[in-house]
Amino acid sequence: MEEKKHKFKPLDFEYKDEQLMSKIAENLNQDLNKRRTIRTFSDRPVPIEIINNCIMAASSSPSGANKQPYKFVIVQDEQVKNDLRLAAEKEEWQFYNKRASQVWLNDLKPFRTNHIKPYLTKAPYLIAIFAKPFDIINDEKVKYYYPIESTGIATGALISSLHLSGLATLTHTPSPLNFLNQVLDQPKQYKAMILLVVGYPEHDTIVPDQDRKPLNEISQII
Ligand SMILES: Cc1cc2nc3c(=O)[nH]c(=O)nc-3n(C[C@H](O)[C@H](O)[C@H](O)COP(=O)(O)O)c2cc1C
Repeated sequence: MEEKKHKFKPLDFEYKDEQLMSKIAENLNQDLNKRRTIRTFSDRPVPIEIINNCIMAASSSPSGANKQPYKFVIVQDEQVKNDLRLAAEKEEWQFYNKRASQVWLNDLKPFRTNHIKPYLTKAPYLIAIFAKPFDIINDEKVKYYYPIESTGIATGALISSLHLSGLATLTHTPSPLNFLNQVLDQPKQYKAMILLVVGYPEHDTIVPDQDRKPLNEISQII
């Protein structure tokens, strides 16, 4: 009986020609390297199916004991976006004017950011991403494993999926982020990780002119 519950099935895996594999990897490197964080969004609507499919693509990521310990809350309601903007700008004002160290503020100078966040009400979607250390199901605590790692991996897949689908994102992390639990009425044990802004770029969008590290600085072969 026990054995039946823990069934295995054949892996769905396709061997590819290695030249083709190299080409796929090269193209992915090029395509994913075109992704940039933007801070000026258009209000052009985006079909919800695209967002839903990208979230399902993200959910294909590995997770601790396959518990998928995360929740993606998609916000499209104008009033809720407004509430989130008010709360985020309050925290960000504190950050830029009181909490941030001078070193941190200097590191942020190239991005020309401040506490005012118009994209939170302009972009068609905000995706609030929560890691779930545990759930309460029928009054019982159900613990999950590696919630932060699993949520980070899924979020990376989500950002790449949205980019490859033709959308732009901003990984926004006003700190502390726990106002997301209150405004979005989520259980207090869920850890708010990121408020992902999703949509099309404004037509005259510019981005900081910055480089990415070369392979030998981020990787080593032993
Ligand atoms: C965990 C994390 C938090 C971030 N938080 C913010 C943020 O609060 N505000 C912001 O404008 N950009 C934020 N960013 C965006 C980074 O500044 C950006 O990813 C980085 O400069 C690299 O630029 P690129 O995404 O265009 O390659 C964040 C990125 C990450 C990964």
